[in-house]
Amino acid sequence: MRSSSHVLPLGVLTALLLSQVCSGIKWLSISHAPASLHINQTQHCKLLPGMVSSQAQLCRSNLELMQTIVTAAREVKKTCQKTFSDMRWNCSSIDIPIDAPKYRPDLERGTREAAFVYALSAATISHTIARACTTGDLRQCTCGPIPAQIPEPGYRWGGCADNLQYGLIMGSKFSDAPMKMKRAGSHANKLMHLHNSEVGRQALRDALVMKCKCHGVSGSCSIRTCWRGLQDLREIAMDLKIKYLSATKVVHRPLGTRKQLVPKDIDIRPVRDNELVYLQSSSDFCTQSEKLGSIGTQDRQCNKTSLGSDSCDLMCCGRGYNPYTEKLVERCHCKYHWCCYVTCKKCERIVERYVCK
Ligand SMILES: *[C@@H]1O[C@H](CO)[C@@H](O)[C@H](O)[C@H]1NC(C)=O
Ligand SMILES: *[C@@H]1O[C@H](CO)[C@@H](O)[C@H](O)[C@H]1NC(C)=O
Ligand SMILES: *[C@@H]1O[C@H](CO)[C@@H](O)[C@H](O)[C@H]1NC(C)=O
Repeated sequence: MRSSSHVLPLGVLTALLLSQVCSGIKWLSISHAPASLHINQTQHCKLLPGMVSSQAQLCRSNLELMQTIVTAAREVKKTCQKTFSDMRWNCSSIDIPIDAPKYRPDLERGTREAAFVYALSAATISHTIARACTTGDLRQCTCGPIPAQIPEPGYRWGGCADNLQYGLIMGSKFSDAPMKMKRAGSHANKLMHLHNSEVGRQALRDALVMKCKCHGVSGSCSIRTCWRGLQDLREIAMDLKIKYLSATKVVHRPLGTRKQLVPKDIDIRPVRDNELVYLQSSSDFCTQSEKLGSIGTQDRQCNKTSLGSDSCDLMCCGRGYNPYTEKLVERCHCKYHWCCYVTCKKCERIVERYVCK
């Protein structure tokens, strides 16, 4: 009896340690920092929740960068929710309250959803920093380098390139920090998160495209000034969503001399650099499950005519749906008056909408 009473607290302790591990995206809660906070003093770092010690260190030594990272955390949240607004899992759990000890299980476990969020976070932080170099929000970096290739006739390099290199270095230094900690969680989880973060950064590298501006007499475009610029985050997120849909389930097992992540079903090849990987299967997110981190789709709006994931059939998991009507007020019968204004009337329109049972 006595020994078993010792076992219990130990078990509880282990469970506690395990539950704290690998919150590699906990730093996203710095998006809750007050909008009015202008980070220009080292004490301000204490006001930012969710950072591990090396992230707090980076904050203290680089206050200017931190302001950009807070912006990035807000972008991750917004972009994730927008990208998944038509899916059963809609990224709502990324928005944990500031005082919650940890994420819900859909993001805390090694799931496909966690894979997407880690990839998106890594891409976003580097994207935001690279852009901040260009816009002048960061004084520590400048425009990216001018490409070495000689441009085609009619084109010339100019403008200000997004500083992807700087974004990648500083972004990964911050966002990979939790996974680089010695005592942070299982080896398998760390490998998974690091891999997916790198997939996100690769998607960002692939999103560096040539952008040009026309010059010449009245838009004749006889000369184009071009630079390397990053595509919008929305597009990068869509790219990662496709990788999410085709993500590979992996297991942690010896491959060569070390334990690595290998595809579960076809374990004869290593994982590819451009595929998202996950260790644990997800809920189908149809019904509420505290344990799996699903809030279910009851009362979610669905689209009766869509054939995609937001269709009432898929969104409601076959449970059916309830119609309701909504009154829309729109501008209509707009008239242009010379010169120069427009007047419109207000029209009301009743539309039918549907929510899942
Ligand atoms: C920090 O920023 C605030 C708001 O912009 C400003 O009022 C304050 O003087 C700044 N403090 C320092 C130490 O630069
Ligand atoms: C996600 O879905 C839940 C209901 O399942 C809803 O309450 C929430 O508003 C949705 N979040 C977003 C960002 O659409
Ligand atoms: C429903 O889906 C159809 C087809 O994809 C689309 O044209 C329409 O705008 C959607 N309606 C709403 C309310 O989102």
